[in-house]
Amino acid sequence: MSSETPSKTAKLTIGDTTIELPVLEGSEGEIAIDIRNLRNQTGAITYDPGFGNTGSCLSNITYLDGEKGILRYAGYPIEQLAEQSNFLEVSWLLIHQSLPTKQELAEFHREITYHTMVHEDLKRFFGSMPKTGHPMAICAATVGALSTFYQDVKYDDPEDQRWEAAVRLLAKMPTIAAYSYKHSKGQPFMYPQNDLSYPENIMHLMFATPCEPYEPDPVIARALDLLLILHADHEQNCSTSTVRTVGSSQANLFASVSAGISALWGPLHGGANQKVIEMLISIRDGDRSAKDFMNLAKDKSSGVRLMGFGHRVYKNYDPRARILKKSCDEVLARMGTKNPLLEIAKELEEIALNDEYFIERKLYPNVDFYSGIIYQALGIPIDMFTVFFALGRMPGWIAQWLEFHRDADARIMRPRQVYTGERERNYVPVDKR
Ligand code: CMC
Repeated sequence: MSSETPSKTAKLTIGDTTIELPVLEGSEGEIAIDIRNLRNQTGAITYDPGFGNTGSCLSNITYLDGEKGILRYAGYPIEQLAEQSNFLEVSWLLIHQSLPTKQELAEFHREITYHTMVHEDLKRFFGSMPKTGHPMAICAATVGALSTFYQDVKYDDPEDQRWEAAVRLLAKMPTIAAYSYKHSKGQPFMYPQNDLSYPENIMHLMFATPCEPYEPDPVIARALDLLLILHADHEQNCSTSTVRTVGSSQANLFASVSAGISALWGPLHGGANQKVIEMLISIRDGDRSAKDFMNLAKDKSSGVRLMGFGHRVYKNYDPRARILKKSCDEVLARMGTKNPLLEIAKELEEIALNDEYFIERKLYPNVDFYSGIIYQALGIPIDMFTVFFALGRMPGWIAQWLEFHRDADARIMRPRQVYTGERERNYVPVDKR
């Protein structure tokens, strides 16, 4: 697609003025009205709270059709990647928008492995935070602190130095994530073990202790890898837009991603995976029945929502939720365990998919609805769920940050507003008010 050669235009009339606006077309036929000159030509701006109709960039990374429930990374359907690829390969794919050769993949694996350790002084940083602190806050702070250990990392680094920062972040994130957990438990921090695969190393960092041998379970490692693949990118969502926005001020990669982790933490975004399990537990423990909970979720005055349901873009079943629902059954069966929370989740879904309120609004399960049940089966504590989302989203944030910095159209992100406050008035000294 080119923003220079629009084949269609749109006409806009405001009062007596009619202007013609270029129309861009994406590679999947999506159209966008280019309003870059709107204010210059008419004095008007657009109003779009939540940016539901606003395209902030042209991107080659991820394609999402919310009406049809399609998700593709650089053209490859998520279902195929989930079945046949692995997280490191998907990370490369997102960053380069092409699959690596065998040699490129081996070299990438070697590079990631080489950078897994964190500076010993950074380990002490964890000790200064309360053990009860939420691990998302700890991870955001620690990723931000990486800028103090790699002070030469800048927004305008040459491509190879940016790549090194990207590799460092992908390599160290499992170590940082696991240390936030180990700190909460008061357990010693394990060193990464570089002969393990990426997901096996995560399990080792989280669950091994120096006292006993630890053998990561390949079934668990594969299930974890699948979760990471499914979370790896989702185009211009809240946290990714945050990473791009912070990066647009020419802040470095670590600072930008630290902000993205904070954005992800909120319960309307990645934090929903923790909220879903808490909701299922409250139903299991008899706080209220599934039916009563659904009635509450439909009552706007209750402030309660069915967590893990609904999406800004998907108006159909989220393809990631479909894969995860199947994986829940498989993981629990292979581990020989049952989880009553899965039955409650299926019951809630069944009620929702047959209820006018949810049908009318096109509310379907999203990625967070079933992921927590798998995390639980893998032994991951509830307040670490969103950290695992962040681990998975890392290549997406990096790819989007890198793409922004290569984009000739990129400018500092600076939306406008429609001012609705007081008109000019004279200041009144305090003793006269
Ligand atoms: N439960 C009950 N009602 C809902 C829900 C829900 N989960 N989601 C949306 N609605 C209603 C909402 O009240 C509104 O009703 P009305 O038209 O009568 O005012 C309508 O559906 C449209 O909702 P919206 O809030 O305008 O939609 P949005 O695109 O602004 O918000 C959302 C999307 C994901 C924030 C929202 O669906 C939600 O709060 N879901 C629960 C939280 C959640 O699961 N978040 C994870 C999102 S997916 C992964 C990720 O991005 O991290």
